[in-house]
Amino acid sequence: MPHIGLGAYQMHHEEAVRSVEQALNIGYRLIDTASMYGNEAEVGQAIRNSSVPRDQVFVTTKLANTDHGYDEALRAFEKSEKALDIGHIDLYLIHWPIRGQRKNSWKALEKIFDEKRVRAIGVANYLEPFLDELSTYAHIPPAVNQVEFNPYLYRRDLMERCRKDGIILQAYTPLSRGRRLSDPKLVEIASRYGRSTAQIILRWLIEMGICPIPKTVNHDRLLENFRVDDFQLSNADLKAISQFDEGLAICGDPLDYL
Ligand SMILES: NC(=O)c1ccc[n+]([C@@H]2O[C@H](COP(=O)([O-])OP(=O)(O)OC[C@H]3O[C@@H](n4cnc5c(N)ncnc54)[C@H](OP(=O)(O)O)[C@@H]3O)[C@@H](O)[C@H]2O)c1
Repeated sequence: MPHIGLGAYQMHHEEAVRSVEQALNIGYRLIDTASMYGNEAEVGQAIRNSSVPRDQVFVTTKLANTDHGYDEALRAFEKSEKALDIGHIDLYLIHWPIRGQRKNSWKALEKIFDEKRVRAIGVANYLEPFLDELSTYAHIPPAVNQVEFNPYLYRRDLMERCRKDGIILQAYTPLSRGRRLSDPKLVEIASRYGRSTAQIILRWLIEMGICPIPKTVNHDRLLENFRVDDFQLSNADLKAISQFDEGLAICGDPLDYL
């Protein structure tokens, strides 16, 4: 799986098609969409329009909260396949750990995987209690756990747990939707590297072994967010950024679903 990707939340219609096409031209090779984003068709259209061969693009989509359950999840996957219309889906995630149906949904994902209709299956918003529960019935462990994660929401224990279990941690809302990009502590570090604060955050995530999926519909920011592989943060700065945590969760608390 590519170590950085484009998040497609809140992109619609022509803007979604254009942004995904631009991202592929820039070099992005992972696109993160979801049934709940209502833009699988646009993402698929952009991938088909692109000159990048399909097998070089990694596409993630997710099971919507309203589609949990064994049969429901199987049907939802087929709907996503049709909407995307790009052949296979690379990664299918449970979007949120909905109470009561998590097990049935995971069993459906395992069936889809066993039938080789998807390259990998995983979860999103699975904090430790959900991973504990999943481990009691999963025959196939999740390849990926996608959670809200950035220096201002530094889930260190979860990161270490995923590392220990061999689960790739993918960071959503990696830029905290822009809310801390003017933080003076971050600005000071960015100015020393001659980089933007967004690039410093994305670099920090990558150096922590976490895969960020920043979203933007702006061409310059698509470039900016992708150009983070040509510099390294010093150990001192990695450590300093690791102190920025303030528990800033923007997308809700998954533990509400326990
Ligand atoms: N699994 C889940 O439950 C879940 C939940 C939330 C998100 N996600 C995924 O994660 C992706 C990213 O998260 P997100 O969209 O919530 O937030 P994000 O990537 O942290 O931030 C996106 C916001 O920041 C702006 N932005 C992007 N790059 C910037 C830059 N370099 N400088 C300044 N502003 C910048 C964007 O505006 P412009 O577009 O105007 O540039 C947008 O408003 C989503 O798109 C989605 O694919 C998953």
